[in-house]
Amino acid sequence: MAHDASQNVFQGRKVALGICGGIAAYKAAEVLRGLQKAGCVVRVAMTARACEFIQPLTFRALSGEHVIVDDYAPDNPDPIAHITFSQTVELLIIAPATANILGKFANGIADDFLTSTYLASTAPVLIAPAMNSSMWEHPATQRNVERLKADGVFFIEPDDGEMACGTIGPGRLSEPERIVAAALDILQTTNTDVLQALAGEKLLITVGATREALDPVRFLSNNSSGRMGFAIAEAARKRGAEVHVIAGSTTADAPAGVAVTRAFSAAEMHAAVMNELPEATIFIGAAAVADYRPAQSARQKIKKSDAEITIKLERTQDILADVAAVNRGDLLVIGFAAETENVLANAREKLVRKNLDAVIANDVTREGAGFDALTNEVIVISRDKDTPIHVPLMPKTNVANIILDEIVRLRAARENLANLTTDERRKKA
Ligand code: PMT
Repeated sequence: MAHDASQNVFQGRKVALGICGGIAAYKAAEVLRGLQKAGCVVRVAMTARACEFIQPLTFRALSGEHVIVDDYAPDNPDPIAHITFSQTVELLIIAPATANILGKFANGIADDFLTSTYLASTAPVLIAPAMNSSMWEHPATQRNVERLKADGVFFIEPDDGEMACGTIGPGRLSEPERIVAAALDILQTTNTDVLQALAGEKLLITVGATREALDPVRFLSNNSSGRMGFAIAEAARKRGAEVHVIAGSTTADAPAGVAVTRAFSAAEMHAAVMNELPEATIFIGAAAVADYRPAQSARQKIKKSDAEITIKLERTQDILADVAAVNRGDLLVIGFAAETENVLANAREKLVRKNLDAVIANDVTREGAGFDALTNEVIVISRDKDTPIHVPLMPKTNVANIILDEIVRLRAARENLANLTTDERRKKA
C-alpha cells in the first residue's frame, strides 16, 4: 500500500534558522537536521560572531543552500536578501540567541543581516537563548525577553546546568529536540483556524498502561508512559476541545487544563469510558490496554516456593470495540494499533473489525517510536481514504497535531456527508 508522504504537513515548509555567536552554535546543526527530518526546507543565516564558533560551510553542506552572513558580501547571490529571505519563510528560529541579539531585536536595531531579517519578517519567531547565567538573569536581558514576548515572539527558555565557562545555573541552550518540537508545534498551530478547529468537540481519550493484578502486590502491565495520549489531549485542548482523559498507569505528566480520571485495570477503564461516553463527540483509544488478565487475582501475596506456577489468563473487554459498537450518531472513533509485524495489514484489519473511523498504526519495533519514547513514527489510516498518511519520526507533540488535522478532516467529511441528499449519498457509496 502506498504512503502519501506529501501529506506530511511539514513537507517543504520553509524555515529560517538564525545562529548567533556562542559556544552552543554547533548545536544548531542538530536543530537543522531535526527540522529537515520532519520535511522542512531550512535556510541558514549567521551573525559574523557565530562564524568564529562554527564555519558557514557546515551549514551550507547540511542545508544545500548559501548561508547568509553579510548581505553586502560580494558572494551573496541575492542583493536584497534580507527582504526575499525574510518574506519567504514561514518561521524564523534563532538558536542560539545571545543577550546582544535579544537587545537588538527588542529595540528594533537592524545593523546586520540577521537583525534586518527579524525586522523585515512577518513570520512567527522562535528564540532559544544561550548565555552565561548572570547575563541571562540580568534585568536588562529579562526586560528584553519580556518585551519580545509582548511582541508575540515564542521562547524556549534555556536549561539549567553547567556552562562552558564552568558556571552552574540557567543559560544552557535547550536541547535541539525540544527546539525542533516547539518549532514544528508553531508551524502546526499558529493559524487561528487551526486553533479553533476543535471548538465544541468533546474528546474522550484513554491513555497509559493498564495493570492487571496477580495478587495485592504484583500485576501484568506494559511500558506505556502515557506521553502519546497526553500529547493528543494537550494539542486538542489548545485547538478548543473539551478534553477528558481516562488514564491508566503513566510516567509522563498529565497536561494542564484537561479532566483526568484514573482507571488502572482494563475493567476499570472500560467502566470509566462508558460512564463518560454519552458526553463525547470524539473517542481516541491511545491506552495500551491488556487483552488478557489473570483469571483469578490472589487475595494474599503469592508465596514463593520451588513449585512452578501456572497462571490462567482470561480475555478483558475490548473498550475500543465496545465504544464503536454503541449507537454513535456524530461520534468519531479513532484507535491505535501497536504492531510488531505486518503493521499496515494488521492495523487495517483492526480498523475494519472494530468499525473505526481511523486507526493510527504504530510500529513499536522502530527506533525512537512507540512505548516510552519521546518521539513517534506512525501511519494514519482513515476509513474514507485509500492512501494512508505516513508520519515520519518526530516528537509526540507534533505527531499528535497531525492526528488531530486528520480528525478535523474526518469531521468535515462527516458533516458534508450528512448534508448530502439520500440520492447523492447513495451515489457516493
Ligand atoms: O504511552 P506511550 O509511552 O507514549 O506509548 C504510546 C503507545 C505505544 C502506547 C501508543 O502509541 C499505542 O500504540 N497505543 C495502543 C496500544 C495498544 O494497546 O494497541 P493494540 O493494538 O493492542 O490495541 C488496539 C486498540 O484497541 C488500541 O486503541 C487500544 O487502546 C484498544 N484496546 C485494546 C485492548 C482492549 N482490551 N481495549 C482497548 O480499547
